[in-house]
Amino acid sequence: MEIITKSFEETIQVAMEYTKTLSQGDVVILDGDMGAGKTVFAKGVARALGITDEITSPTYAYMNDYDGKLYHYDCYRLSSGEDAEALGLTDYFYMRGICVIEWAQNIADALPRNIKRVKIEKIDEGTRKIIL
Ligand SMILES: Nc1ncnc2c1ncn2[C@@H]1O[C@H](COP(=O)(O)OP(=O)(O)OP(=O)(O)O)[C@@H](O)[C@H]1O
Ligand SMILES: [Mg+2]
Repeated sequence: MEIITKSFEETIQVAMEYTKTLSQGDVVILDGDMGAGKTVFAKGVARALGITDEITSPTYAYMNDYDGKLYHYDCYRLSSGEDAEALGLTDYFYMRGICVIEWAQNIADALPRNIKRVKIEKIDEGTRKIIL
């Protein structure tokens, strides 16, 4: 399914709807270039899960744990699945919380077999195409 959003808030709404299709323990890969809206989408997932903490980009921490309900990853600075494993980041793939992963291609060999993909493409400054 492809959806066009015209604002940050519309992308949040799409992510909230999408979250209804998720189950405990799901691992969701967010594909898209820098500034595509992956972190915005993660914010929508968090909102749908009832998480009230502010969702910040985990670029330096690699992963932020929101009460075991959501694990939000940014693997931009990782270069292998081995690194992710050594840091203990892969353990959370097999827990009850939902994993949402930015730049998952950097740790491709450590990802579980069953993953869901969301692709976000920048059309212009305020417009995004979201492929679910
Ligand atoms: N339709 C839209 N949906 C989502 N974000 C939008 C939209 N239009 C504009 N934006 C803006 O695009 C930016 C997306 O930033 P975001 O941090 O989510 O990108 P990202 O994909 O996580 O990038 P990075 O790879 O650097 O982490 C935000 O500044 C947001 O306000
Ligand atoms: Mg981001």
